[in-house]
Amino acid sequence: MKAAIILAAAGLAAAVPARQWAQRATSALVPRSRGSKQTVPNIRLGRNETSNVQYSSNWAGAVSIGTGYNHVIGTITVPEVSGEDGAAASAWVGIDGDTCQTAILQTGISFYADGTYDAWYEWIPDYAHSFSNFAVSAGDQIQMSVDASSTTKGVATLSNLSTGKKVTHTFTGTPSTLCETNAEWIVEAFQEGGSQVELADFGKVTFTGASASGRSGTTTPAKSQILDISPDNGRTVLTSCSAGSSTVTCSYVGN
Ligand SMILES: *[C@@H]1O[C@H](CO)[C@@H](O)[C@H](O)[C@H]1NC(C)=O
Ligand SMILES: *[C@@H]1O[C@H](CO)[C@@H](O)[C@H](O)[C@H]1NC(C)=O
Repeated sequence: MKAAIILAAAGLAAAVPARQWAQRATSALVPRSRGSKQTVPNIRLGRNETSNVQYSSNWAGAVSIGTGYNHVIGTITVPEVSGEDGAAASAWVGIDGDTCQTAILQTGISFYADGTYDAWYEWIPDYAHSFSNFAVSAGDQIQMSVDASSTTKGVATLSNLSTGKKVTHTFTGTPSTLCETNAEWIVEAFQEGGSQVELADFGKVTFTGASASGRSGTTTPAKSQILDISPDNGRTVLTSCSAGSSTVTCSYVGN
């Protein structure tokens, strides 16, 4: 099926750094000191013209490509994860970072194979910042949303749907300008201390109540571009994602 793969956005792919695996800690007993965490824009690889899936080094999920997006929302049930020590994944909603590679407004939750979680907000190129007072655990139903009031201002919100507890961060004077052309629901192998984490086995993450809106009206994920994480352009595919009229589902399908 090699012939079915074409390199999409070759210029874009060449402009981003090569994927790197994180160093694994040598002992599970020694607490790892974690470096700065950061989402990076979608590192696009080739596209499978048969399945219409876009392979990515780091993003799985769905991206809706359009104009004027200023609101993205979705709810996940926080999964239990497993994998090598140091393996991790994050689930988040955001605006931009795919065809618009210069900015992302986003919020989400990172899951680590050691059973810890982290709730955060980020506007790249800044790092992710953790919300304090929002200790997430497996089974929590967390609604995530981002709202851009302009291309340089916005709000990130996480809410615990069981209790109504909400944390928000308001961005002002941000370091980059949104294009408002991508709305996304993503599971990511993010960067920590400058290296991409090994993707943890996150089982299944489903974004429900997923929608985006803005100057062009409301969009569902149904017609989004589906992304799957593959370290080698489709030979090994680690995720299997799909989207419906209000859901985006990604399953881990690595070994
Ligand atoms: C969410 O609510 C559940 C149920 O009360 C609670 O167990 C959990 O700790 C809460 N999580 C957060 C992040 O508030
Ligand atoms: C492309 O997608 C088709 C249909 O899902 C699948 O059978 C095939 O293995 C894929 N090819 C590659 C190289 O991933």
